[in-house]
Amino acid sequence: MWKSVTAAPADSILGLTEAFKKDQNPNKVNLGAGVYKNEQGITPVLACVKDAERILLGSEQTKSYLPISGDPVYTDCVQHLLFGEEDSEVISSRRAATAHAPGGTGALRIGAELLKEFKPEASVWISTPTWANHNGIFAAAGFELKSYPYYDAETKALKYEEMMSTLHRIPAGDIVLLHGCCHNPSGVDLNAEQWPEVAALAAEKGWIGFLDFAYQGFGDDVESDRQGVEEFSKTGCDFFVASSFSKNFGLYNERTGAITVISPTAQETEVALSHLKKTVRVCYSNPPAHGGLIVKTVLTEPSFEKSWRTELAEMCNRIVAMRSAFVNGLAERGVDQDFSCIKKQRGMFSFSGLTDETVSWLRDNKGIYVVGGGRINVAGLTAANVDYVCESIAEALHR
Ligand code: LMR
Repeated sequence: MWKSVTAAPADSILGLTEAFKKDQNPNKVNLGAGVYKNEQGITPVLACVKDAERILLGSEQTKSYLPISGDPVYTDCVQHLLFGEEDSEVISSRRAATAHAPGGTGALRIGAELLKEFKPEASVWISTPTWANHNGIFAAAGFELKSYPYYDAETKALKYEEMMSTLHRIPAGDIVLLHGCCHNPSGVDLNAEQWPEVAALAAEKGWIGFLDFAYQGFGDDVESDRQGVEEFSKTGCDFFVASSFSKNFGLYNERTGAITVISPTAQETEVALSHLKKTVRVCYSNPPAHGGLIVKTVLTEPSFEKSWRTELAEMCNRIVAMRSAFVNGLAERGVDQDFSCIKKQRGMFSFSGLTDETVSWLRDNKGIYVVGGGRINVAGLTAANVDYVCESIAEALHR
């Protein structure tokens, strides 16, 4: 069957981790996949997660199937993170339907499959640049992909005017994928004045916003980061949100996420939920329980929730400190290129401006793994490796 088939290329992000593991260089550093590391270079299980698991070990009574859309307490928790604890019009009007999905990727794919059924002719508009897997997910669901300008490599800032002028031309019924916060890979987000304008434009033009919200809590904090979701909620229009607990709960391998479909009325939302469940049923039947049980246990126990927020803030603070150490380390080594924008970028990543040639040189000669296009996972830098990384980049740039 496979004799005449050409092998698929390795994944541009997760494939790097496979190559990294095989690398014999004792100094190797993985700055590829967006995975948080602590000062010891370890991706820790959060203490609040361990506490929740201890409780679950004693209290879990069954491994029977979850409902198709997941445990309702879990999906309520997701909605409270998205729309706020109190006074959420979306929640009280029952305008949102949430299904537990296997990770943010699973949420995007379920949303894509649902959209394809009811908007088969639509195009999906994706920012330039974007997370590489966005293209794959929406193409696999059968959509035609188009792009809108987003990040300007020259000015290292948002191309807001160009982006808006493209969004103005997008026809009703098309889908526009936006990053809820911590744009991957650029780390450059829409600001507080721009989000309402983008949401108002969606309402005016009738295109459907799909917010990929994989980094809630990694920008400013859980509340401020949901401004985009809030602005779209205020329009009363249809939109979609893909949530992930990989990063903010460190639940990478539990594949814990959710797809939320927001519509203008409770009746429409009921209909949306029925089709969401139908889509889930034919893809994976019903969700895996463990990650959702952890999230629900943490978010419904105030002392666990408090320690989650503390641990999340600690992760963010360490990343911010590493941004400074990285920028200062490069400046100290006489690198001419201006990397100061890295201090302003948000989330886990820095769009370093390193060329693909430099990225290959760093990998081949120094065992430093960076995603093509120059995206660096700042959360992979530690006090122990940042000097080596800065020295290696300086050497690469001074060749
Ligand atoms: C990333 O962008 O590195 C992460 O979201 C991991 C992934 O699945 O690509």
